[in-house]
Amino acid sequence: MSLSSSNNIYLPKTAILERVVDDIAEVKTFYWRFEDRDVQDAFKRFKPGQFAQVSVFGAGEFPASLPPSPTEDQIFFTVRQVGCCTSALHQLRPGDKFAVRGPYGNGFPMQDYYGKNLIFVAGGIGLIPLRSCIVYAIANRDKFQSIQIFYGSKTPRELMYPASLEEWKNAGVQCHLTVDRTDAGWTGNVGVVGSLFKRPDVKVPVDNTVAFVCGPPIMFRFVIRDLLEMGFKENNIVSTLERYMKCGVGKCGHCCIGVAYICMDGPVFTYEQIKKLGEDI
Ligand SMILES: Cc1cc2nc3c(=O)[nH]c(=O)nc-3n(C[C@H](O)[C@H](O)[C@H](O)COP(=O)(O)OP(=O)(O)OC[C@H]3O[C@@H](n4cnc5c(N)ncnc54)[C@H](O)[C@@H]3O)c2cc1C
Ligand code: FES
Repeated sequence: MSLSSSNNIYLPKTAILERVVDDIAEVKTFYWRFEDRDVQDAFKRFKPGQFAQVSVFGAGEFPASLPPSPTEDQIFFTVRQVGCCTSALHQLRPGDKFAVRGPYGNGFPMQDYYGKNLIFVAGGIGLIPLRSCIVYAIANRDKFQSIQIFYGSKTPRELMYPASLEEWKNAGVQCHLTVDRTDAGWTGNVGVVGSLFKRPDVKVPVDNTVAFVCGPPIMFRFVIRDLLEMGFKENNIVSTLERYMKCGVGKCGHCCIGVAYICMDGPVFTYEQIKKLGEDI
């Protein structure tokens, strides 16, 4: 493998931070662009569900999903501050430089879902990797049947992308929201995400439907149980797996589960594949 700078697969390209938006506690959205226009144009061919490796100088590198849809103009990451690298990103200000390499991973095969109903089931920041598919589906509305979103957070203040949720509703997507704990002004559902499926005003299509599920492990387990009870087939349930990653390109083995490299064979898998991997989500 050549390590000359022109074709070094590990060499990230310089990015410029343009705008930072506070989402919920410890989570911010970082709007950015590549310094080089050609690099930007090439990167913009990413697929919903892919990810990138983000380098913050002096701190290190971490994987982050791409929440924008390729049908949108701006590129951004939405990142929770948990440790060294994500905290360093949170310190950056508009105009600061960092670096990005990618896009990586398989992404959701959205074209295979043409003609189907889509349901998106998310908990907390699990909406980040699903945002791309939702916006893509709305931008290609004539290619899909019904689109519904089932989204829950701990409290109303922890619902991600509230402005987008409003836009999606206005675009004809049925958005069913729920919270674990209510606060003043919340008139919606209270309970776990799965409680939304049982509401009398909700009709979940099962035939010809793909269910996208992303969220914390406990939510994932219960939602999968609910979907299987409703009659969903395991290969019509798709999700993304998160693992420690280093190279992101199938070289280092850090992300291996069984025979699969999460960075290359994933991060998108059907539930049927996840079960075969023996993944204890
Ligand atoms: C494909 C992929 C997509 C991701 N997309 C996003 C995203 O869009 N937004 C976002 O906020 N985060 C995302 N993550 C998680 C993100 O990569 C980690 O939070 C980040 O690597 C933490 O780096 P750090 O240096 O700040 O934390 P560290 O200092 O390395 O660790 C701090 C704490 O976070 C835990 N941690 C670190 N990495 C992970 C991980 N991958 N999964 C679970 N816990 C971890 C550690 O165990 C430790 O407790 C994604 C991860 C993967 C693999
Ligand atoms: S992160 Fe190196 S092989 Fe997947």
